[in-house]
Amino acid sequence: MPIVSWKEQMSLNYPPLDDEHKDFLEVINQAVVASKQADFKTMDVVFEKCYDYVRDHFSHEEDVMERISFPDIEAHMKAHQIFIRNISEFRQQYEVAPTSRQKQEVAEKTVAFLSVWFLGHVLSRDKLLKPYLVRLRNLPPRMNYS
Ligand SMILES: [Fe+2]
Ligand SMILES: [Fe+2]
Repeated sequence: MPIVSWKEQMSLNYPPLDDEHKDFLEVINQAVVASKQADFKTMDVVFEKCYDYVRDHFSHEEDVMERISFPDIEAHMKAHQIFIRNISEFRQQYEVAPTSRQKQEVAEKTVAFLSVWFLGHVLSRDKLLKPYLVRLRNLPPRMNYS
């Protein structure tokens, strides 16, 4: 898998979420290298970081969607839930893989999934938030936090 790089078209013009997307891209790129080298120690860290990302980023993004009254919030939250399920299944397969070779195969499949999911989700679903994010400027200061 090629290294995935940040492109301006991924930007929501909202740094608190853009920065988290950039952080996740770094995790994916770490996974690209680790899976190629069968570096399981790093892959374990990558799985942990995925869970951290899911917990922090998804709840942040869902909170923002509520504040801007994003109309398609339910479908978006469902996409997040499906990602959580998918990544858990990959991890499960990775944990039980009986040989190093099979472990590496699962790691490579996981990386391919992460890259495709990230690009698809950010460029389609997350991107839909962009026109609504200007609403944050018009909220009372207490709600206009990042
Ligand atoms: Fe999202
Ligand atoms: Fe996102």
